[in-house]
Amino acid sequence: METNETPVATEDTEQEEIDLAPVEEIIKNLPDNSRGHLVPTLQKIQNVYRYLPAPAMELVMEALNVSKAQLYGVISFYPQLLITEPGKYIIKLCYGTACFVKGAPIIGDKIHDGYHIRPGETDSSKLFTLQTASCLGNCGAAPMAIIGEDTHGTIDPEKTLAILGEYKHDAETLETEEATA
Ligand code: FES
Repeated sequence: METNETPVATEDTEQEEIDLAPVEEIIKNLPDNSRGHLVPTLQKIQNVYRYLPAPAMELVMEALNVSKAQLYGVISFYPQLLITEPGKYIIKLCYGTACFVKGAPIIGDKIHDGYHIRPGETDSSKLFTLQTASCLGNCGAAPMAIIGEDTHGTIDPEKTLAILGEYKHDAETLETEEATA
């Protein structure tokens, strides 16, 4: 199980303006209103929006007859479920035993030095969201991280910052290209 912290939902979660049609479709296709459908429904919604927008959660609560406390209790149990929009790239830093003993926490500190984020947080430019994870399944390449869709093994603090710098550079280049297109 992943071990990063999930932000705690608050009563005054802002109501975003989003297209709820995909959520209505997901709910319409539920076989019944059993609470057993809650987690799969949340996963489907997150696949659409990359996180769980508050207005979508209102529809889920109504459809599955769950209270806000029940809903966010479940969300907080699954660190991969996000209630705020993540950065362009999610960094899953492995904190499994092999990676931990080979310096994953030091890498986490280095990421904090560079981007001022701790697990569960997104940097101010909304480029990176840091999460920790349990074993990513390749302990021989410890310490490991998944950044966006890419797997990086045998990383160290300096190498990790260099890799993140490449993602940052690519994102900035793309932004410049889009602005001048
Ligand atoms: S403990 Fe990190 S890949 Fe297994």
